[in-house]
Amino acid sequence: MREHSVNRSRRDFARLFAVGGSAALFSARPSAWPTTAIQQAPPDPDERYWTRVREAFIMPPGFACLNAANLCPSPATVVAAADHAARSVDVDPSAQNRAKTHDGREATRRKLAASLRVTPEEIVITRNTSESNNIVSSGLDFEPGDEVLIFSDNHPSNDAAWRQKAQRFGFTVKVVNQVNPHPGAEFYVDAFRQQITGATRLIAFTHVTASVGDVLPVRELCRLARDRGALSLVDGAQSFGVLDVDLSRMQPDFYSGSAHKWPCGSKETGLLFVSSRVHGRIKPSIVSLYPGDVGISRTLEAFGQRDEAAMIGFGAALDFQQQVGADAIEKRARQLTMMLTEELRRIDGVSVWTHADPSRSAAVVSFRPGNLDTRKLHQALYERERIVCATRAPADRGGLRFSPHFYNLESDIERAVAAVKRYMSTGV
Ligand SMILES: Cc1ncc(COP(=O)(O)O)c(C=O)c1O
Repeated sequence: MREHSVNRSRRDFARLFAVGGSAALFSARPSAWPTTAIQQAPPDPDERYWTRVREAFIMPPGFACLNAANLCPSPATVVAAADHAARSVDVDPSAQNRAKTHDGREATRRKLAASLRVTPEEIVITRNTSESNNIVSSGLDFEPGDEVLIFSDNHPSNDAAWRQKAQRFGFTVKVVNQVNPHPGAEFYVDAFRQQITGATRLIAFTHVTASVGDVLPVRELCRLARDRGALSLVDGAQSFGVLDVDLSRMQPDFYSGSAHKWPCGSKETGLLFVSSRVHGRIKPSIVSLYPGDVGISRTLEAFGQRDEAAMIGFGAALDFQQQVGADAIEKRARQLTMMLTEELRRIDGVSVWTHADPSRSAAVVSFRPGNLDTRKLHQALYERERIVCATRAPADRGGLRFSPHFYNLESDIERAVAAVKRYMSTGV
């Protein structure tokens, strides 16, 4: 039955690519878009279940993509849903037909809200995490005398943006430094507590760091900010779509993420959650037409004409993840990460930067492969082994980064570890 569903979705996919502007596509409506076709993960899914998940992606077999922290592949059904919607607009670009893709955009907003346990009125569909972070740093009225407290291991769209806006608007930026290896949740709560003053207006930190996968204590830090009268911006680029994120528990004021990373959605779509508590405090930096229909999207999402087909692909990705199950996805990514961390630690000469304790790290493993040239190793893994990963500059916890996800198989991890071990003994 499961195989049948996957095969059927592949046929649909092939057909969609073969057909150009047929009458069938003319009547695109959300209920007619291809649906996902994977069954819920059982309580203790085996490798056969994950193989079926892997087969729902269009990457060729044997291609080990261990780079989710950078960009994820989409399953066939997501590619097909976005393609179907895009073709519909090109077949019939009338306002009447585009109203249907707009409905798809609003459906994605509702799915995002359900997945994050918040309301559609609090969701802005953006282009990516970078844009989401900048909507916040450009949209709040901070002035000389105000302070923003950032974390040194944030992405440039967070830290560089805050520094640039501090120069422009005259407020001050203070920094909590990262420590490696991860010194524990309490350490970071204390570090932020010590630096918050009566002038702190916002703290900005990353849920899971892209560098080494450090997990920050989001709930505690957001509570700390609230208790001190400051706002919180949580960068969720590396948690959204891999950890089972429940914003009703974490209670940030802002949370950002990208569809093209862990959610496996269409490229150049993302999200910004804006808590209803702060709707009155943030102003739009872009003022144009074509906003979203509800809540804060009516003001913060008026960016002019959008690629609503990509947003529909985002919705299909959320459907796919929901069908597998958020809890199962998190467990699988953590299991594969743990496997990698343990096995890499066993290789002579390899130093793993990522903490082994799953309460301190998730889904990202960074390591220094002894004295090997990391660029050459990165290239050899891709060209000779069909393994995709990322490099890290030598200046800061340098080396390679693997970030496995629920579409990876244990055999991908075994191959990656065996290849690193081999190159460590033979050289690249
Ligand atoms: C923590 C973090 N924030 C923001 C971003 C930016 O994401 P995007 O390029 O999708 O805007 C990244 C990208 O890797 C990231 O790791």
